[in-house]
Amino acid sequence: MAKNGTPSPGRRAALVAGLRTPFLKAGGDFRDLSAVDLGTLLVNELVARSGIPPREFDAVIFGQVVPSQLVSLVAREVALRTQLPKSVQAWTVSRACATSFQAAADAADQIALGHADVIVAGGAESLSDAPIFASRKLAQALVSASRAKSLPQKLQAFAGLRLQDVTPVPPALTEPTTGLSMGQSAEQMAQQNGIRREAQDAFAALSHRRAADAWASGKLGEEVMHVPVPPRYQRIAAKDNIVRDDTTAEALAKLPPVFDRQHGTITAGNSSPLTDGAAAVILMSEEKARALGIRPLAFLRSYAFAALDPGEQLLQGPAFAAPVALDRAGLTLADMDLVDMHEAFAAQVLSNLQWFGSRKFAERIGRKEPLGEIDPGRLNVNGGSIALGHPFAATGARMLWQTAKEMERRKARHALLTACAAGAMGAAVVLDGPESREESR
Ligand SMILES: CC(C)(COP(=O)(O)OP(=O)(O)OC[C@H]1O[C@@H](n2cnc3c(N)ncnc32)[C@H](O)[C@@H]1OP(=O)(O)O)[C@@H](O)C(=O)NCCC(=O)NCCS
Repeated sequence: MAKNGTPSPGRRAALVAGLRTPFLKAGGDFRDLSAVDLGTLLVNELVARSGIPPREFDAVIFGQVVPSQLVSLVAREVALRTQLPKSVQAWTVSRACATSFQAAADAADQIALGHADVIVAGGAESLSDAPIFASRKLAQALVSASRAKSLPQKLQAFAGLRLQDVTPVPPALTEPTTGLSMGQSAEQMAQQNGIRREAQDAFAALSHRRAADAWASGKLGEEVMHVPVPPRYQRIAAKDNIVRDDTTAEALAKLPPVFDRQHGTITAGNSSPLTDGAAAVILMSEEKARALGIRPLAFLRSYAFAALDPGEQLLQGPAFAAPVALDRAGLTLADMDLVDMHEAFAAQVLSNLQWFGSRKFAERIGRKEPLGEIDPGRLNVNGGSIALGHPFAATGARMLWQTAKEMERRKARHALLTACAAGAMGAAVVLDGPESREESR
């Protein structure tokens, strides 16, 4: 279990800017853009909009969860294609759906240590460009053929291959240790925690309602860049295309379950969809922000990652990580003006909320009291991944940016963000508003 530790003794990391592309359903308008393309467009635009001179940047920490076989170091490839100097450090991080939370945590650590002052932290995902693999037998035959000295020997290498050996293999969204897909794992959680289909659909409908309202009010438009759509570049992707302003719980109730067709409760409507997109934030030391005259939107006050046995309840990581991040911040759930919980599935959010409020779970993790209930008026107030989409590596940065902007609008003092992740991991981050600066000293 994660050690609760003490608040970071080092310099505070200010979140000073952020940006994301529209989030589009995989196979749509971003199908001709790789994760590197999306990341490059995003980081270029983010740096330009920030007004921070490129020479001030120290690092780009970036991730991609389903990596291209052609690009092993997405962060460096993105950084090299932007206007940032070639001397800027870049490294790739991966923590499944919490990848850009990991990028932001690494950035905060680098700033706290005094190793860096200005860092881009984010991620990009192109599930339209997911790698297609060859079977192990075909791969072995190709290696043997490449070593063969004559044409007959080369042909001999392929003898014995069957049709199934030469069929391309798509990447699987399954948990290697359990063999279950994310959806099947969430289905098990729904059953074990008694999360009913009606509650899931009501939660999903609210996610769409809030995201649609946030677009209609212009809030999300401020946070999203425009992307010209290749190959002809005659159209512009300017908005997320998964949000539906006509989603109702009644319409969602008609959708068939997809992961357990007979008895299941999880549908395309109450799951996050496969999505393409990129998001990033700029984190900066408080001193540097002051020196450059840049006003922080928020400060990264604490973070925590946690993990459990994937064979138990795969997506309950937030219930383990959130108490640790709150303890490290010296705050409670009741202090949070906003809570943003990544929505892999409505069943996963509702399961985590149940454990947040559970005395039995509190005892299990050695706490006297449960974390508590979250006022629905403070939770995912501008929608979440079910409605907005979930480009795995970009989601954490999307949440950091979206929450920081909402904190600014509401003059919020504190916010908690969480994400579940494959491997049965969880992430939690506590953000402070600029007004709470002195209090957290
Ligand atoms: C759930 C999943 C399998 C659905 O994929 P899909 O079948 O391509 O989904 P679609 O978008 O085509 O939706 C299926 C149907 O539901 C309908 N639907 C989806 N969302 C809806 C909504 N909000 N309101 C009404 N109808 C909706 C679609 O219109 C479609 O209807 P149709 O068949 O009549 O065209 C896929 O999104 C998935 O795998 N998600 C999980 C991703 C995951 O594991 N993430 C990891 C989390 S950590």
